[in-house]
Amino acid sequence: MEKSTNVNNAAYWLEKNNVIAIPTETVYGLAANIFNKEAIQSIYKIKGRPSNNPLIVHIKSVKELYKYASDIPVKANLLANAFWPGPLTLVLNKTEIVPNYITSNKETVAIRVPNHLLTLKLLEQLDFPIAAPSANPSNRISATTAEHVENYFQNQIPFVLDGGACKNGLESTIVGFEMDEPIVYRVGALAIERIETVIGKVTIKNKVTSQVIVPGMFSKHYSPLTPFYVVNNPEEFIKESLQQNIVFIGFNERIENAKIKHQFLLSEKGNITEAASNLYKTLFLADELQPEIIVSSFFPEEDLGITINDRLKRASINNQN
Ligand code: TXA
Ligand code: MG
Repeated sequence: MEKSTNVNNAAYWLEKNNVIAIPTETVYGLAANIFNKEAIQSIYKIKGRPSNNPLIVHIKSVKELYKYASDIPVKANLLANAFWPGPLTLVLNKTEIVPNYITSNKETVAIRVPNHLLTLKLLEQLDFPIAAPSANPSNRISATTAEHVENYFQNQIPFVLDGGACKNGLESTIVGFEMDEPIVYRVGALAIERIETVIGKVTIKNKVTSQVIVPGMFSKHYSPLTPFYVVNNPEEFIKESLQQNIVFIGFNERIENAKIKHQFLLSEKGNITEAASNLYKTLFLADELQPEIIVSSFFPEEDLGITINDRLKRASINNQN
């Protein structure tokens, strides 16, 4: 697999109907030409993703939106103009040229303009948009560096466009519309508060799947391989834990306990944006240490803390809500 910053090479592989990995400001994506059915099918295969889970279409500018989406609500236009390029995905009625295999036969399409210099350059060179789900096997932690992608897909894709560490480090926020009213389907890298400054109050219908936990079966979203707990009072939880080899992930405060073999603070200065950008890379590092369990505390439930808590809950086996 070639790992490089060369945009021409990335375009070459995509034009030859290959799947490659591309950087975005949120997370890396597994990318292919939206009009090439076989390449899109390979994305599903490589990711191990069920075919009923549709992909996001990445376009180069707001102007392109009208080719792929129709009946666009006023509030969707406001959001696109306010936040694109950026970590916001809009779910809108699709036009005829959007293939059904991109949308899993839905009448709507998820679409965004990513904010990464290399990927914008790449889109500029191509005469088709790119479909890209996050570059991780289904249910695993999203990749936020080219090295993460390499570790996951070494032998399965020919090329990763190396754009360094993703600035936001969390997936885009997904907003759709029901009777023209905005609904947040996935909290993400664009804070709800910022969206509400542009279009007013939004409804959140973000699903955290709570699952019945049986031994050896872990919650299947964004998960590390090590059993992962997110708790309100980590100090107490660790004190009472029978495990002797624990990794702790916190915001900005350390915990003293001999059972903690290593601890990571996501932002020593208590900056929530910095914490967000460090989350996934820290989950990878924590997993590599192979502790018995990983324990994390909940973050303040505001701004990007809402997204961090969502991802922590999805990664955890105790799924406290
Ligand atoms: O930040 C991101 O959004 C990254 C980067 C690569 O752009 N992409 C990403 O893609 O997170 P993915 O496939 O991992 O997550 C996209 C989500 C899925 O949960 C999918 O179900 C939802 O978007 N989605 C796609 N099309 C949809 C549609 N028409 N209606 C509702 N949800 C949709
Ligand atoms: Mg994903």
